[in-house]
Amino acid sequence: MATDTKHCECCGLSENEMFSLLEKTIGDYEAKESNLIQILHMAQAIFGYLPDEVLKFISEKMNLPMSKVSGVVSFYSLFSTQPKGKHTIKVCLGTACYVRGGSKIVDKIKELLDIEVGETTEDMNFSLEVMRCIGACGLAPAIAIDDTVFKRVNPNKLRQILAQYE
Ligand code: FES
Repeated sequence: MATDTKHCECCGLSENEMFSLLEKTIGDYEAKESNLIQILHMAQAIFGYLPDEVLKFISEKMNLPMSKVSGVVSFYSLFSTQPKGKHTIKVCLGTACYVRGGSKIVDKIKELLDIEVGETTEDMNFSLEVMRCIGACGLAPAIAIDDTVFKRVNPNKLRQILAQYE
């Protein structure tokens, strides 16, 4: 088990406490392969993401090969092996947003934050993702930052929008 030096920023649990909670979760489920996805969901809720040490722990406790566990994680896009930033930017690339310049918005955010899609800024403030339709097609192009949707986004306004989250 990892040393007990890190603490979760949101709940204050130490790393050892998070691993204990994960062990209990695995015990609460039957530790069989058909429950792997649910256990990974719970692990991501506890740790915020799924680093190698967590996958190895699950593999050992469930007696499953590491290749099986990491294969499931890489198959489903909702699992992340990288820590997420404080704010998640989701740029819509659904049809309406795409034809109205959604990809230019992605490019501008990549330039402003110096990250690629799927990455997090060095200061851990922003993560960048793309998605299909956030329900604002009539006012495309749209992006969401955390729970706030920004409509008719113009690439030139992005610096100002992001500044609200600095
Ligand atoms: S396609 Fe972008 S909000 Fe629907």
